[in-house]
Amino acid sequence: MDQIISSDYLVVGGGIAGLTFALKVADYGKVHVVTKDLQVESNTFYAQGGIASVVDPEDSFDKHIDDTMIAGAGLCHRDAVEVLVKEGPDRIYELLEWGVNFNRRADKPGEFDLAREGGHSRHRILHAHDLTGAELQQALLQKALNHPNIKIFEKHMAVELITEHHVLGNLQAAFNICFGAYVLDELIGKVKAFSASYTILSTGGASKVYQHSTNPDIATGDGLAMAYRAGVRIANMEFIQFHPTSLYQPGKRSFLISEALRGHGGNLINSEGKRFMPEYDPRAELAPRDIVARSIDAEMKKRREECVYLDMTHLPALEIKERYPNIYNYCLHNLNLDITLKPIPVVPAAHYSCGGVMTSLNGQTSMQNLFACGEVAHTGVHGANRLASNSLLEGLVFSHRAAMKIISKVPRNFGNVIIPPWDDSGVQNEYEWRLIKHNYKEIRSIMWDYVGIVRSTQQLDRAIRRISLIFDEVENYYRKSVITRELLELRNLSATALMIVKAALRRNESRGTHFMADYPESSDKFLKDTII
Ligand code: SIN
Repeated sequence: MDQIISSDYLVVGGGIAGLTFALKVADYGKVHVVTKDLQVESNTFYAQGGIASVVDPEDSFDKHIDDTMIAGAGLCHRDAVEVLVKEGPDRIYELLEWGVNFNRRADKPGEFDLAREGGHSRHRILHAHDLTGAELQQALLQKALNHPNIKIFEKHMAVELITEHHVLGNLQAAFNICFGAYVLDELIGKVKAFSASYTILSTGGASKVYQHSTNPDIATGDGLAMAYRAGVRIANMEFIQFHPTSLYQPGKRSFLISEALRGHGGNLINSEGKRFMPEYDPRAELAPRDIVARSIDAEMKKRREECVYLDMTHLPALEIKERYPNIYNYCLHNLNLDITLKPIPVVPAAHYSCGGVMTSLNGQTSMQNLFACGEVAHTGVHGANRLASNSLLEGLVFSHRAAMKIISKVPRNFGNVIIPPWDDSGVQNEYEWRLIKHNYKEIRSIMWDYVGIVRSTQQLDRAIRRISLIFDEVENYYRKSVITRELLELRNLSATALMIVKAALRRNESRGTHFMADYPESSDKFLKDTII
């Protein structure tokens, strides 16, 4: 029998949530982190804006709570928001002890240089220039690599959660339990069994399900899809957040233009140079993200134009270059555009999954021994629309809580558990790259065209028919084929797309990021989570 790779804690995904969790439990047992790409590659790495937290004596927990609840449009769970906000500062100070550097004020070096973003009533975003995610990822990764109990497996992509349906043996009262995951070792093309007392999903989001997305290619909803297939409860998948400003550069991979630029005084203008946001919302460029994204969409449709512009040219050039070196250099080298001299062409793009695998305030999912934290999780903090820069904070706060919960538990004995090796008998070694490429592209364009910023019942009906067909075709092909990363990502994308459309069809109202042209108002009837 093939070897089983055992640990106390199996962490699936190596961004801020997974690595924080790993560091917190590593003194209590053996930790395996599996990550499907290189260890530095994660959604976290690309975060630009920063982490929101109350670290300024003039700010208050109540204000951050209120801003989060307002952005969430009636669906935030207040208890979760209170935990997020009140425990945030402790986690931030811990990051400083771990060697993370946030920008300080030039005039008062003892104080953080706090930025402001849409929906925040105050400046409260800690940042490392416009490369906050990279700063965090590198610091956490270095610390994890130095810990003798943590082993990181790169190029290892989880295929399925191992549940009582897979295992053999004389199990006692075994129902709805996770025993680890089957994982594809991409370099040797073999699926291995990773067993663990606790499994933590920290696989990030799913925004690659849309044709235009700010996310890296890895964001294919892997944890969401695995949880879905294992029957774990998932909530609010209809709430996909579209970031208002990704760089408009047709044919090229998306690049985020951080919301911090609007917080810094950037104006959204149309091709005639007219500032349009005040016509849509009194908070103008600093309205919550769903409103700004929808307004840009409306302005583009009204004027039949491909993009709008973010204008920074009225702001001091040196300050912009110093504060946003990543964005400044990217635009200069890729578009030959000096953002201090010319406005930046921007369009909205899919950015963040507000819903996810349902968890308690301690990261526990509806399956025993399975926890989830970070973007893959639905803790209840984001409601129908996440407040800017609350996501890294959520990853930090709730992975800490999950770790504290788990180390206080005595693992249950389920009897004699035998995990069989992965069964790939009967599969054919043929690789239909056309099917994979075609379906991958088709899912993403269906989602963009029919399940985007503005939706309607008719469009969602079209989408569900097409996505269901693709889902069935991919599942059939998967059962017969040798597993590759591309195939797994396609399978996960199709499952995630299906969840999003199903959830959207169940919400006949408009709320937060979910806007239905045929139900433009919010209705109290829908003041509840959509649970799959
Ligand atoms: C940004 O920098 O605009 C992204 C921050 C976030 O997604 O919260």
